[in-house]
Amino acid sequence: MRPIQVPIFTDRLIERLTALQISACLVSSNGVCSPVCDLRPIERMILGAPAFRSTVARLFEQLSERAGQPVKVWPGVYFVPLPSQRRRRSQSAAETQIPVAILCGQDLLDSEHMHLLCDQQKMDMTAALQQIDRTALLSPTEISRLALSLGWMKQDSVELDRRVAELQAMSQHLAESYEELSLMYKLSSNMMVNQTPDSFLGNACYELQQVVGLRWMVLQIADHQDNLCLLSGQVFNAGQMPTGKRALKQIGLQLIEELGQITEPVVLDDLSRLNIPGLDTLAHHLLVVPLVREGVPFGLIFGADKLDDSHISSIDSKLCSSLASTMSIFLQNAMLYEDMQSMFLGTLHALTSSIDAKDSYTHGHSERVALMSRNLAKAAGLDDFTCERIYVSGLVHDVGKIGVPESVLCKPGRLTFEEFELIKQHPEIGAKILQDIRQMHDLIPGVLYHHERWDGNGYPHGIAGNDIPLFGRVIGLADAFDAMSTNRTYRRALKHEDVMAEIQRCAGTQFDPELAKVFTELDFGPFFAMVQKHQAAFEEGVTTEDED
Ligand SMILES: [Fe+2]
Repeated sequence: MRPIQVPIFTDRLIERLTALQISACLVSSNGVCSPVCDLRPIERMILGAPAFRSTVARLFEQLSERAGQPVKVWPGVYFVPLPSQRRRRSQSAAETQIPVAILCGQDLLDSEHMHLLCDQQKMDMTAALQQIDRTALLSPTEISRLALSLGWMKQDSVELDRRVAELQAMSQHLAESYEELSLMYKLSSNMMVNQTPDSFLGNACYELQQVVGLRWMVLQIADHQDNLCLLSGQVFNAGQMPTGKRALKQIGLQLIEELGQITEPVVLDDLSRLNIPGLDTLAHHLLVVPLVREGVPFGLIFGADKLDDSHISSIDSKLCSSLASTMSIFLQNAMLYEDMQSMFLGTLHALTSSIDAKDSYTHGHSERVALMSRNLAKAAGLDDFTCERIYVSGLVHDVGKIGVPESVLCKPGRLTFEEFELIKQHPEIGAKILQDIRQMHDLIPGVLYHHERWDGNGYPHGIAGNDIPLFGRVIGLADAFDAMSTNRTYRRALKHEDVMAEIQRCAGTQFDPELAKVFTELDFGPFFAMVQKHQAAFEEGVTTEDED
């Protein structure tokens, strides 16, 4: 924080001196006395006299050294220098002004100087003296005591005003920090990795425009940012937009060209100097903040004119700059997360496809179950994160089949009791496989309980109703739906109306009745599109194998 400068005579000090009926002025080294409050006529006459001024000029050095002590300028006229802040380094002695209180003593009545002054002013001395309240004239002791009190009063007053000013500056500083912190808090709450980068950037642009109070704001990612995938070349905007997105993107590109590779924020006050046609009709002042990642700019934030018509300050630039750094970090993390997530899902898809491929009839089963489980979870009003986890759990729900002999899995026709017992082990085998992967523990209920039934007649544990974890109930429904809707070794696919009727019939016995109701109202278009895709891929695979 910068040091606080308090004026020599504050309003508070002038008020107190006026209440005490004491006049005050600022004395310059040439003897000129500039009043800071109304002077009495006789004081005005004395302070204006050239002879008085030359005495003051002569005594100036003494006045500067005797704060709080009375200095006799003329008989009966005393100056009490009041302590003030130290002279600034840049200020010369000639520029310095000394604050003084003016006291009049009883010896004014017999003063030769007064007689002389009255003669010069062609004024009757008796008439001049009549202007003075003689009882207000002070004795030497009173002058000394009053001078001391005035010195203290000035010191206290300066201290008080300095603290008030400090407090105000601190409040201002706190308010600014609060805005920055509150913006950062809002953003960091939005920085959950399951939020998509484009919704994060859209929110960030809006929050920043609101906090900084600019008329409009644009956040632009530069073109050809390969590692930023879909974000490359995107434009986000907030506020009262003066023109369309395409025109703003063009302005952004021209700004990058005009300003070069800037790495710090800049405030542009004269937009006509930039070679960007029409920009000065859209804004008077522009704040431009680069988005920098590992020292390389990859985009821009630019915004125009404060809503309250004030100047875009360094605090506004600082706020935008902090946000730009936060955004760069978020984007970096988001990209890493996206990479890891796609590798993770890719691996799971490969794993589950290899299990589904054991049996030609279940080709693509896990992917379809995952899709319908997520759709059901969304329709049931579950949050985005849970829906995604249900999707992944659906993808791996049959991972335990890896431990079931292929001869049993792919057996055409009816299974023996023993064979069915082997099949029934796959939920527990799957749960055991996932148990060793900490990041997949929350998926286990979907794997372990997807063959449980609402009435308790399922397997492996025979639990019923709401005792069956939600993941198990959701995936169980999607699993049964896919089994009925696609061809199996032992029967052809049922008609969609028959599948729906079966689900309704089994609501409350096999399926959670509430989930079953939501399920029957889903859009099945994506499911059938996926069935066709899997069928085509399977036939292509078969043809290729035949050719081999
Ligand atoms: Fe299963």
